[in-house]
Amino acid sequence: MSEGMHHAEYSSFSSQDREEVLQTLIDSYSALSTDQDNWICNLSNASSLLWHAYRSLNVNVNWTGFYVTNVEDKELILGPFQGKVACQLIAFGRGVCGAAAESQETQLVKDVNKFPGHIACDGETKSEIVVPIVNEQGKTLGVIDLDCLDYEGFGEVDKKYLEELSRLIVKTCKF
Ligand code: SME
Repeated sequence: MSEGMHHAEYSSFSSQDREEVLQTLIDSYSALSTDQDNWICNLSNASSLLWHAYRSLNVNVNWTGFYVTNVEDKELILGPFQGKVACQLIAFGRGVCGAAAESQETQLVKDVNKFPGHIACDGETKSEIVVPIVNEQGKTLGVIDLDCLDYEGFGEVDKKYLEELSRLIVKTCKF
């Protein structure tokens, strides 16, 4: 972090260009996780960065955060997030988060009503993206979950940057 900079300043995103904002998010996460490998600490700041980055782009996110593996290959538990109170436990294979955790593939859901088994923690959610976090040994450590109040809230650009964030999380966090 540059001298004289306050941590909260990382929450300010000034561009309206999606790629530029998401690259800033990646750079900010990298800076904040230098010399810090505690997953609660790093994922807490990451959820704040995600919230403020998307809000600054006028994307109506209502939830940005993480579920982490509670029982290997079986169950996720709620992790650090920004937004309303959410479901605590999600089985692998259940809902969008469980699908990402089990398949280890990003789930880009443009309309949650069309996703069989979607878990509605918040009935107002219309679309979401869930990116798995997978370690070098091929184990799912958790997922990044972003929800939006509008249909088609997320697309390929988001997938690209969130998958990069996921790789960075594997490199920087001890779970
Ligand atoms: N909608 C998610 C559940 C998590 S909450 O939205 C925060 C799902 O179907 O996996």
